[in-house]
Amino acid sequence: MEPRVIEGDGVRLRPYRDTDVADLVAACNDPLIRRFLGGLPSPYTEADARRWITESAPAAAAGGGTAYAVTDPDSDRLLGAVGVDRLVPMRRQGEIGYWVAPWARGRGVATAATRALTGHAFATGLVRLELLTEEENAASQRVALAAGYRHEGVRRAAAAQRGGGRSDLIAWVRLADDPPGPTPRLLPDLPPGGLTDGVVALRPTGPDDVDLMYRLHTRPEVVANRVPPEPPPRWEVDRRCRVAASNWLVGTVADLVVVDVASGEAGGGLALRYDEPRTGQAMLGASMLPEWRGRGLLTRGVRLLVDWAFGTVGVARLWAGCRPENVAPQRVLEKAGFRREGIQRGRLPGPDGTRVDSVIYALLPGDLS
Ligand SMILES: CC(C)(COP(=O)(O)OP(=O)(O)OC[C@H]1O[C@@H](n2cnc3c(N)ncnc32)[C@H](O)[C@@H]1OP(=O)(O)O)[C@@H](O)C(=O)NCCC(=O)NCCS
Repeated sequence: MEPRVIEGDGVRLRPYRDTDVADLVAACNDPLIRRFLGGLPSPYTEADARRWITESAPAAAAGGGTAYAVTDPDSDRLLGAVGVDRLVPMRRQGEIGYWVAPWARGRGVATAATRALTGHAFATGLVRLELLTEEENAASQRVALAAGYRHEGVRRAAAAQRGGGRSDLIAWVRLADDPPGPTPRLLPDLPPGGLTDGVVALRPTGPDDVDLMYRLHTRPEVVANRVPPEPPPRWEVDRRCRVAASNWLVGTVADLVVVDVASGEAGGGLALRYDEPRTGQAMLGASMLPEWRGRGLLTRGVRLLVDWAFGTVGVARLWAGCRPENVAPQRVLEKAGFRREGIQRGRLPGPDGTRVDSVIYALLPGDLS
């Protein structure tokens, strides 16, 4: 038997009531909620809200799941929704989902509701909860991490899109015996405003950077360093920009745009790929558009990223690889303190089935003192 009320930090989870109808209609017609919750009727009417309150939500509870209204404990106003469904009793597993109304976002409502219902679900017998997010839904991924869920993998083409087509979903999972508290992140957020030395600024790559990234990654000298050495199709660059925030949260790569502070224009890209967290090693990748080269901007950007990697992320060794004939990036790395370690023969796939060598550079924190 479900409890009538679950108290959370600044939120109360309770069954839906008739008084929630207007707020349900307003929230379920909100563009963000519609974008990330594909199954909602369109438009969402008062009749839909009443059906939810009187039939669907009670049915979820009757089926062993839960569907709670997330409310303000003082005013009782509806702030959002949280529930557990898709139960697999044999595995003592369920799936948690939520939304928060536009008037209640950005103040911890989803995190508090998810924590509270997760705790309740584990206390009443489940041992494994899944939380599935769209790749682009960074806010929801932050909620997952804050509520102690860990990144587990990608469910390919798991979501049906409203306009047709399918998209991947990222799976986050929390087990009943996982440690309490938020999931630690390998790559923390940048400070507000990004990293800057007053001349160059580094900010996270996002969906608006597709043109820049496409120009950059289709340049012949950048293509030569790609694996395989072929220009990427535009959809691939578009996807890389859309999932950049997610990759950062998951801890695989911090993708950054190099900005010239004086003009505010973006001139290139830098990436910190945390390729071996177990040994504290990360890889640096860098490229600038031709019109921004030769001004020392990339060297400044590399220095900023190096300071952040060693000082904030806790990386113990940075490395980078270049084709031997590609001398410009080698000069940038040397100016930033990297040391040449040697050549890895036939390291990367080259054109037409060949293999190409790579010059390896590395930097340790002690090299900078
Ligand atoms: C995702 C959603 C539920 C978050 O609700 P919320 O109450 O604002 O979430 P919280 O305040 O608890 O936490 C939000 C976290 O996301 C961050 N965030 C908020 N808006 C963001 C945005 N537009 N982009 C990236 N991050 C964002 C906050 O900074 C916070 O992160 P932090 O804890 O690392 O600082 C809400 O945006 C929503 O309803 N979205 C539409 C429906 C949806 O996506 N549901 C989940 C489906 S998987």
